[in-house]
Amino acid sequence: NISPECVGPNGVAWTSSLTSYAQRLEAARDEILTRKSDPGAFLGWIDLPEDTETLRQVRRYREAQPWVEDLVVLGIGGSALGAQAVGAALGKGPVRLHFVDNVEPEPVLELLRSLNPEKTLVNVISKSGTTAETMAAFLVFRRWLERAENWQQHVVVTTDPSRGILRPYAAAEGLTAFDIPPSVGGRFSVLSPVGTLPLAFAGVDLENLLAGARKANEQARSEAARNLPAQTALVHHLFAQKGLNIVVLMPYSTRLRYLPDWFVQLHDESLGKLYNREGKEVRTGTTAVRAIGTTDQHAQVQLFREGPHDKLVVFVRLENPSEDLEIPAVKGLEGLDYLFGRTFFELLTAEAKATAHALAKAHQPNYTLLLERLDAYHLGWLLQHLMWQTAYLGELWNINAFDQPGVELGKEYTYALMGRKGYEKLAEELRAEGVG
Ligand code: PA5
Repeated sequence: NISPECVGPNGVAWTSSLTSYAQRLEAARDEILTRKSDPGAFLGWIDLPEDTETLRQVRRYREAQPWVEDLVVLGIGGSALGAQAVGAALGKGPVRLHFVDNVEPEPVLELLRSLNPEKTLVNVISKSGTTAETMAAFLVFRRWLERAENWQQHVVVTTDPSRGILRPYAAAEGLTAFDIPPSVGGRFSVLSPVGTLPLAFAGVDLENLLAGARKANEQARSEAARNLPAQTALVHHLFAQKGLNIVVLMPYSTRLRYLPDWFVQLHDESLGKLYNREGKEVRTGTTAVRAIGTTDQHAQVQLFREGPHDKLVVFVRLENPSEDLEIPAVKGLEGLDYLFGRTFFELLTAEAKATAHALAKAHQPNYTLLLERLDAYHLGWLLQHLMWQTAYLGELWNINAFDQPGVELGKEYTYALMGRKGYEKLAEELRAEGVG
């Protein structure tokens, strides 16, 4: 919880900021929950943690494929980053997860050379079923899988139930396919089969992942005083109003190293908007930036403390390790005796607390999200908390946090440059502008 004595922008005590915004936050909550029944509102992610039937299907599929040694996810953005973040944090094998999102030839070739097609499962994930990078990778892997005896067994498709190129292809070839519910957008899909299917192969405790997310749902539906995502959204809103337009997410954990990547996409693509809901030009958004503790203490923290105070720094810290490592005493190195007998986790915690305090002393705003430990339950909670925070910010800024019109033009230019049918006129325009 945010402690009441915390001080917000302009030195206003947190409790009074919260009191003055309570009605607005609760109205935002009611608005989100009312809009949820409209599939076009893309709020289906709220109900994913309750969908135990899909989870059972995912489990059954995983159990029927004991032969898999390597799982290759072909997907980009929301179709890859969530599973990558959770897989790195909690994956325990024995199946190795690989993510092909970029279309840089060398790493893809290196991966292909390292894999045995007979032991590889390819999970092609695309909500739209059309994204160029994912489709190109699929074409390559599909051809490569012809080296396996029965390539159809080596492909599982995760896509929209009716739209796109992948769905009819899966039906025609008899491929196993999982649905991404139409009401769930890419960057909010980690708890759908987009995330759960690869994570099932990575040995992640999916029941607890969803249970943690249900806890976040419970908090997000509460009144303002007990509604943590509404409260953190308010903190972001108040500091954004003060002109702090950068948000740093800095987990003190190597296992959480991909969490900021997932968050950057969630936050930036959802909240960077030119128009508000009434079509008025507003240009909203704060820029999310990734950092990892302690590594970036030796890099970005210099800037955070002494550079422009244009940031809100959000730390993620664990209260307990799952294992710890004692630092031994070594004769001849008595200069390090303050470390003798202490543990890595103690040092990690001290570094996190020290940095947060050093930033606070320099008037650089920051807050810490404390997780009791890094397990499926707490990570599930954190993911859903951050999705709710994003939705609340969308309401506070009166924008649609669930579309991404700003990425469309680049996609269309790519199609034109690659000679896709229907994009001839755009290709001509680009040539006239010297691009091509
Ligand atoms: O959040 C989003 O909607 C995007 O980042 C998508 O996830 C990304 O563009 C990939 O799209 P798709 O799943 O349709 O291939």
